[in-house]
Amino acid sequence: MLKVAVIGTGSISEFHIKPYLANEEAELIALCDVNEGRLAEKGELYGVTQLYSDYKDLLENDEIDAVSICTWNNSHAEIAIAALNADKHVLVEKPLCMTVEEALAVEAAVKESGKVLQVGFVRRHGDNAKLLKNFVDHGELGEIYYAKTSCLRRLGNPGGWFSDRTKSGGGPLIDLGVHMIDICWYFMGKPKPVSVSGNAYSKLGNRSHIENLSFYQAADYDPGLNDVEDLTNALIRFENGASLLVDVSFTLQAKKDELYVKLFGDKGGAEIEPELAIVTEKHNTILNITPQVDNLKFDFTKAFSNEINHFVSCCLEGKETIAPVSDGVQVMRMLNAVYESAKTGREVYL
Ligand SMILES: NC(=O)c1ccc[n+]([C@@H]2O[C@H](COP(=O)([O-])OP(=O)(O)OC[C@H]3O[C@@H](n4cnc5c(N)ncnc54)[C@H](O)[C@@H]3O)[C@@H](O)[C@H]2O)c1
Repeated sequence: MLKVAVIGTGSISEFHIKPYLANEEAELIALCDVNEGRLAEKGELYGVTQLYSDYKDLLENDEIDAVSICTWNNSHAEIAIAALNADKHVLVEKPLCMTVEEALAVEAAVKESGKVLQVGFVRRHGDNAKLLKNFVDHGELGEIYYAKTSCLRRLGNPGGWFSDRTKSGGGPLIDLGVHMIDICWYFMGKPKPVSVSGNAYSKLGNRSHIENLSFYQAADYDPGLNDVEDLTNALIRFENGASLLVDVSFTLQAKKDELYVKLFGDKGGAEIEPELAIVTEKHNTILNITPQVDNLKFDFTKAFSNEINHFVSCCLEGKETIAPVSDGVQVMRMLNAVYESAKTGREVYL
């Protein structure tokens, strides 16, 4: 039995808490949040009685084997390092942290502690991604030399800390782009990034004046605060010659939201979003293959449940996680390089 605690009890925490409660090999025994009102409310809601307003006190509890970190991005590195040093396994929400320096410090703490650290790259755990991974690993797509991904929200700045650069580290790139870049890079076989060219725009603000459209919001939504970009795009080149094109927005004058992930290989292609599809050719004919499964789309709740169950089994059985800290470090390198390129107006070499 793995005894776990969740640190940060805001919007995303329920996607950690509920799968822990449903997992027969895990026991959720503690929660932590600096917001004591929210902490008490969540404790009551989920029947958890050990409640901490300071994560340092929680980490002193020797009963706890593992923690999920669901706090603002600016505390991920600090809490992860402290948890590892306190001999806890760690599942840290994406992004791993805010800078490459922080990422390397977390990686060093993982090595030193020998504990499991899993980065919250939840899209890797979607049933659609797991199915496709099997095809890719069997060489069905051949060499994936190009990937193209978009996550464009026409209205979706979550406000609060998400749009305060000191707490988030940036806007749609670090919040949404982290998922989109990661899922492409993962399927491409994690090639080494060599250069990045990116642009970031802050033209529209958070458009909190728009009416009649709902969207994901931080638990402490505050539309008054916004110093992050609205839109980022980037071209990332890899050592093996492959390239990745990405664009992501919190808000954009777009007709509708758009989300796609496309992979192009020399033997076949695939789409993971908006729904799973595989492309190939046979006997001089192009074939679009639709896998016959219950759900071709990414199911957020199911993917989180898969992610939590994977983490629990890695901790209990000493298995390698499919989202190790080294991947978090490499993705952070790409994200920071996009911002650096956007700032300087030049290609950045890694
Ligand atoms: N995997 C995904 O798809 C996904 C989706 C949304 C959010 N997230 C990530 O989850 C994290 C939290 O996002 P959210 O939407 O739940 O935000 P949120 O604002 O709704 O909740 C964050 C909570 O953390 C608490 N907190 C902040 N700093 C703390 C600290 N040092 N100690 C204890 N508590 C602290 C806040 O009081 C708040 O209750 C972020 O890193 C975000 O990027 C991931």
